[in-house]
Amino acid sequence: MTIDWKALRDAATDVRARAYAPYSQFLVGAALLGDDGRIFTGCNVENASYGLCICAERNAVFNAVAQGVRSFRAIALVSTAAKPITPCGACRQVLSEFRPSFEVRCYGQTGTEEHYTVDALLPAGFDDSALPSKP
Ligand code: THU
Repeated sequence: MTIDWKALRDAATDVRARAYAPYSQFLVGAALLGDDGRIFTGCNVENASYGLCICAERNAVFNAVAQGVRSFRAIALVSTAAKPITPCGACRQVLSEFRPSFEVRCYGQTGTEEHYTVDALLPAGFDDSALPSKP
């Protein structure tokens, strides 16, 4: 399947407008491409109890899983920063739960972009191989 990065970036930009970020004023949108060709989006959702803030990337993953999709081809990430931002550590761990690794593109407001894979963003991450009973 060819990845339509423009469609993914546009979807991430659209959902960014719905971010709930009254504390940081930092809006983030993510668009995740499922193996079935559907796009699942997420934005950051903050809370007055700051530690409960959830990132756009994790919301995109949880949205996909809730709709029955657990295999992914790509994720596009946009924010209100001039330069591209990369997923935080918690989001890298959540993205890496879903094997195999897939492509990550991060877009800045000024037109710059950075390309990664989930594996490249989280080398030597924790996985289920250490657990006594694997799913
Ligand atoms: N945030 C994301 O949604 N994704 C990232 O990759 C980094 C940070 C959010 C969390 C918080 O709502 C705001 O950006 C500032 O950290």
